[in-house]
Amino acid sequence: MTLAYWNGHYMPLDAVKVSPLDRGFVFGDGVYEVVAFYGTEAFELDAHLARLARSLAEIGIALDPIAGGFAEIFRRLRADCGAPDATVYLQVTRGAPGTRGHAFPADATPTVFGFATPLARLQPDALATGFPAVTAPDIRWLRCDIKAISLLPAVLSAQAAKERNALETILHRDGLVTECSSSNVLIVKDGRIATPVADHRILDGIDRQVVVRLARQHGIPVQERNVLLEELRTADEIWITSTTKEVAPVVTLDGAAVGLGKPGPVWREMRAAFDVLIGRPASRG
Ligand SMILES: Cc1ncc(COP(=O)(O)O)c(C=O)c1O
Repeated sequence: MTLAYWNGHYMPLDAVKVSPLDRGFVFGDGVYEVVAFYGTEAFELDAHLARLARSLAEIGIALDPIAGGFAEIFRRLRADCGAPDATVYLQVTRGAPGTRGHAFPADATPTVFGFATPLARLQPDALATGFPAVTAPDIRWLRCDIKAISLLPAVLSAQAAKERNALETILHRDGLVTECSSSNVLIVKDGRIATPVADHRILDGIDRQVVVRLARQHGIPVQERNVLLEELRTADEIWITSTTKEVAPVVTLDGAAVGLGKPGPVWREMRAAFDVLIGRPASRG
């Protein structure tokens, strides 16, 4: 049985009953977070709570995840999931009013829903080989800084990647790299890291922030700036970061080799530092 959190209560996931008028259901009107737990330790929980608070404020839902005790919800859902590592999904919608209408309803209280799943980490042998990625135009809206549950373009670009046996679709807009269906992108050229600046065009990923911080600690130059699609195609290394993909190396882009066509030395150094940080050091060749 999977435990769910549903509007103040813990119950079996399949006992949750959603109103057909819930704004999440009819409008995709809500925001969410996904937090990884390594063992019992939540990874960067404060950063996730802060980002959720910001997403809620940006769409005008008056709920404070910190005062609202959301940290405890994440921990309790994780504790109920037996897996060694887990992710907890938590979403807030604008609630279920008495009728359907686009503007904010007066009579709805936010719906809060969460549950945990085992974290299916990318395995060391796959990481050592690296992953294919493909590219596609970014057809999303211009508030990608909000972690919204309305994810149809992400669903389509994730499916496009899957159909081409790729780990991710890397998106571009106006000749600039943005991010991926559900992860961020970093490149390395001549030992320097560059990643698209975290503005309205991308989600400021927590693992992206962690990797930028780790790189600075390791004395590797990092620039958060506009990254040209052309730079992506000529990069020595490409990495993808997210809560579930962690820090993954891309070795082919639209079928062409990235750099030498295998995970690069800067990725190996950063990945080793990341593994230490999450308490899962591993030796890789
Ligand atoms: C569009 C998008 N970008 C980036 C990320 C990575 O964010 P994080 O590292 O916080 O998981 C996600 C995660 O779901 C995402 O959906």
